Amino acid sequence: MNMIVRMVVMGLVAILLVSCDNASNSSKNSKDDSDSSKKASETLSASNHEEVADTAPTAALQPKPKHSPETTSPAKLSPDQAALVESGKELFEDNCEACHQADAIGKPGTAPSLTNPELLSIASDKFFISTITDGREGTPMPAFGEDLKPDEIKAIVAFLRSHEKLPNRSAQVDSEAESHGDPRLGKFWFGDICSTCHGVNGSGYEAGGTGTAIGKSGFLSKVSDGFIRETVKHGRSNTRMRGFTKSYGLANLSDRDIDDIVAYLRVLGKKNAKAAADEDE
Ligand code: HEC
Ligand code: HEC
Repeated sequence: MNMIVRMVVMGLVAILLVSCDNASNSSKNSKDDSDSSKKASETLSASNHEEVADTAPTAALQPKPKHSPETTSPAKLSPDQAALVESGKELFEDNCEACHQADAIGKPGTAPSLTNPELLSIASDKFFISTITDGREGTPMPAFGEDLKPDEIKAIVAFLRSHEKLPNRSAQVDSEAESHGDPRLGKFWFGDICSTCHGVNGSGYEAGGTGTAIGKSGFLSKVSDGFIRETVKHGRSNTRMRGFTKSYGLANLSDRDIDDIVAYLRVLGKKNAKAAADEDE
C-alpha cells in the first residue's frame, strides 16, 4: 500500500518536472527564435557593408517599440528618406499634433487618426497633399497651403507614410467603378447607422459625434467612390469606425447597400454645398 502511494507520488513529481521543463523550454525556444531572427536581420544588414554606417543613425529614428518592428525596417530607409521623415515628424509636432495627437493616433471628436493602417493603405499622396493644402472647409481642419511650403507638406506625408503597415492600394481603389447605387436606399442606411456618429447631415464633429464630416465637400471632393466604399467595408483599426461587412461591425452591409450609401453621400454633398453657398449670399 505504502509502496503504491509512493509510486503515484513519484509519478506525479515526474509529470510535473517534465511539464515544467517543457514550459521553460518552449519559452526559451521562442526567445531563441526572436534572437535568431534578430541575428538574421543583423547579418542581413551587416552583409551590406557600405550601408551599415548609413543606416545606423536611422535606428534612433525608429519610434517607441509600440509600433511593430516590421512597420519600417531601418535598413529600407535611405539616409535622404530618413532625414525627410525626421523633418516631417518635427513639422507634424509643430503644426498638427495639437489636434491629431502624438504619432497621429487621433482623438475621437477632435481629429481623426492619420496613421491607422487602413487609411494609409487607401490614401494616395495626392489625397494627403491636397487635404493638408486646402484643409476641410466647415470643419476644424485648417488649410496649410499658405503656411507650409509644398516640400514641407511632402515631408509630413513621408512621416505619416513611415507608419505604413499594409501595401498601398490607392491606385487600384481610386480606379474602382463609380457607384450606381440608389441614393434613396442609401439615405435609409445613413440615417439608421451612420448619422449617429457622422451627424444627420454628415456634418461631423459639429453635430456632436465622433465621426468626420463625410457629407461635406472638404472630404467628398478629395475622394473616389472606391475610397469611401473601402472605408465602409473595412473600417479603420483603433478608431470607432468599424468595418460594416463583417459580423463584428454594427451591421452587415452588402456591396449593394454600400453602393447605395456612397450614392447618397454624393447627393448629400451637393445639398450641403448648396446650403453653404445660400448661406454665404
Ligand atoms: C485645429 C485642429 C487640427 C489641426 C491643427 C490639424 N488638423 Fe487635420 N483634421 C482635423 C479635423 C477635425 C479633421 C477632420 C475634419 C472632418 O470632419 O472632415 C482633420 C482631417 C485631416 C485629414 C484627413 C484624414 C482622413 O481621415 O480623411 C488629414 C490628412 C489631416 N487632417 C492632416 C493634417 C495635418 C498633416 C496637419 C498639420 C499640418 C493637420 N491635419 C492639422 C483637425 C486638425
Ligand atoms: C460608432 C461611430 C461610427 C459609425 C456608426 C460610423 N462611423 Fe464612419 N467614422 C467614424 C470615425 C470615428 C471615423 C474617423 C476615424 C478616426 O477618428 O480616426 C470615421 C470615418 C469614416 C470615413 C472616412 C472619413 C474621412 O474623413 O476620411 C467614412 C467614409 C465613413 N466613416 C463612413 C461611414 C458610413 C458610410 C457609416 C454608416 C454605414 C459610418 N461611417 C458609420 C465613426 C463612425
